[in-house]
Amino acid sequence: MSEKSIDSLSESEAADELKRLAAEIAEHDRRYHAEDAPTITDAEYDALRRRNLAIEERFPDLVRDDSPTRRVGAPPAEGFAKVRHAVPMLSLAKAYTDQDVADFIERGRRFFDRDKDLDIAFTAEPKIDGLSASLRYENGVFLQGATRGDGAVGEDITANLKTIADIPKKLQGSGWPDVIEVRGEVYMTYAEFEALKQRSAAVGGQDYVNPRNTAAGSLRQKDPSVTASRNLKFFAYAWGYTTADPAPTQYDSVQKFAEWGFKVSPLMVRAKSIDELIAHYHRIEEQRSSLGYDIDGVVYKVDQLELQRRWGFVTGEPRWAVAHKFPAEQAMTTVERIDIQVGRTGTLAPVARLAPVTVGGVVVENVTLHNEDYIKGFDSNGQPIRDGIDVRIGDTVVIQRAGDVIPQIVSVVVDKRPASAVPYEFPHTCPVCGSPATREINEKTGKEDSRRRCTGELICAAQAVERLRHFVSRGALDIEGLGAENIDLFFNSGLVRTAADIFTLKDRRPAVTKALAERREEQARLREEASGKTRKNVRSVEERNYEGLDKLFAAIDARREPELDRFIFALGIRHIGETTAAVLARQFSTIEELIRIGKETAKAEDPHTVFPSINGIGDTVINALRDFFGNERNDDVLDALLAQVHPKPYVMEISAGSEVSGKTVVFTGSLEKMTRSEAKAMAERLGAKVAGSVSAKTDLVVAGPGAGSKLKTASDLGIEVIDEDTWLQRIGRGG
Ligand code: IVH
Repeated sequence: MSEKSIDSLSESEAADELKRLAAEIAEHDRRYHAEDAPTITDAEYDALRRRNLAIEERFPDLVRDDSPTRRVGAPPAEGFAKVRHAVPMLSLAKAYTDQDVADFIERGRRFFDRDKDLDIAFTAEPKIDGLSASLRYENGVFLQGATRGDGAVGEDITANLKTIADIPKKLQGSGWPDVIEVRGEVYMTYAEFEALKQRSAAVGGQDYVNPRNTAAGSLRQKDPSVTASRNLKFFAYAWGYTTADPAPTQYDSVQKFAEWGFKVSPLMVRAKSIDELIAHYHRIEEQRSSLGYDIDGVVYKVDQLELQRRWGFVTGEPRWAVAHKFPAEQAMTTVERIDIQVGRTGTLAPVARLAPVTVGGVVVENVTLHNEDYIKGFDSNGQPIRDGIDVRIGDTVVIQRAGDVIPQIVSVVVDKRPASAVPYEFPHTCPVCGSPATREINEKTGKEDSRRRCTGELICAAQAVERLRHFVSRGALDIEGLGAENIDLFFNSGLVRTAADIFTLKDRRPAVTKALAERREEQARLREEASGKTRKNVRSVEERNYEGLDKLFAAIDARREPELDRFIFALGIRHIGETTAAVLARQFSTIEELIRIGKETAKAEDPHTVFPSINGIGDTVINALRDFFGNERNDDVLDALLAQVHPKPYVMEISAGSEVSGKTVVFTGSLEKMTRSEAKAMAERLGAKVAGSVSAKTDLVVAGPGAGSKLKTASDLGIEVIDEDTWLQRIGRGG
């Protein structure tokens, strides 16, 4: 949109524009704070606010009640208790140029003019791109923690903040005020962000776009154990209400925080002149890409607390501090190709190959396009999606490394789109193995997963290592001496491509010996390099492995007749964990029967006409079985495997001697140690009959929490009622 220069605005134009800007900025605030899903860049957002401010400066009478300059941030989201900050949580004025910084210092000089000899010092430290939090300590104990919210009222997220290791539950050392609200930034490292993405992809969880939004989402979890799993970090850099200043200066106060057990930025310095401040700004900028977390500028603060107090505040911002922002590092380039990479868990990940372009000193040639919907800009129902972008091969795009060091596409320059550019067609087959690639429907939400996955579970080279590792893992075939490391070695040396190859390793003994010997050599060489010492004659783990080859082959042979449930689990079919594998084993008794039903189900238009209705098995599992058995390319691998391995048919171990044998049992209420279907299977294996309702024929009722009318019927009929633990003891599983 072309904007009129502010000088040429008429009063009524100015009023209109202030109205528009107030609404627009409020909407962006909401997206940023309440949804953690901003749709414009920080630079664009700041430009809107600057324009708003400039118009207000020219037309002070037009300043609206709902003006963005009168508000800070966005109101707290629903769901968490609200906390009124004893001292508001402020935002910072921004500087974009060295001149802006000079102006800031000059304003200070003028303000303190009467005090001519005054020596103003400043601190300079990174501006962390995370979420601010306020942590209240009373007598050294962390009592309450809150988000910033709208600056005046935030959300009580104490339980979640308590899971962050960088936040002390009790202050260390001594000399802390009786009450102090320590403030700082919660953030997520790139390493953690990447690890989370991987974990999520492996279980078909959601997709994450950047560390800041992810950190925000992690802090808003209802279940603190989820927050805990995100490994968030915290830097302390300020404080709110306190019964005593930590120290007379900003710098020393932050050092106190470190003594009390907080993490503080190692990049904070004290400086006296603008030259020193700017020099430190450039030092931090240089280190930016190696910090491992996002920063978006450098914050300068007056050092002496006495001067901070004298200089004071304007609407929502301290006068004595300023954030010197890094320039948004953007550049334009074109999308030459879109490639699909297949992850270790089968996810198809689109990557844009760009004409190389330098953004902030780094050449960018690739940028992730996240997923199918992101590339289209809308989901499969035609709804525009958050963070989505319609990008096509041939498009000119704006690339940014601003908020984060990971490059991303900010926008497509639609004016420059070649007439020939067509919407990108996301492949429906895996580029690595040619298998169909499908999107799962989430059973609960009915929504399609944003990721498309390869169904060539057994044959896809991209997934092979992960599959093989799973195949030999604990709950699966559990082959002793064949862990992830050996699997990697055998895979990389071409000895094992599919699970069947594991069982023929013995026939290729010389090649196995050679691979193990080569690794031993390589590791010895690396150790020497690392230590600088020459080789000592120590027996390494690898060496013992190598010598234990017969043992390994014996362990492999010992697993040629695995239990059916382990075998089904080992296949690594999506959504089939140990419990579901056990249910399937019980239902179908043999692998041949499972394969037969699986294939028929895959062919049937309506799977429910073929697949029996089984307690605990829903559409997610049925669809996974359809994908797996419907993919003919899995057949060869499965056949080869079944030529080596003969899963034991599942037989019910009906033990007549069992205490519950012949009895009719009813389960009611929720069970905590196992699923209903497991409990049922277990009871039946012991010769009991499991009924759905209580009647005169019932011998025993196992009741968990929440048991209702069945419990009453049982007591009316004088039937014995026991809890889950007693049941487990009775069937010999208690402990
Ligand atoms: S000081 C009274 N220091 O930036 C001063 N803020 O734009 C209050 N931030 O809400 C803030 N790093 O979330 C300060 N080293 C730092 C910071 C920092 C990041 C964030 C903070 C604040 C926002 C203000």
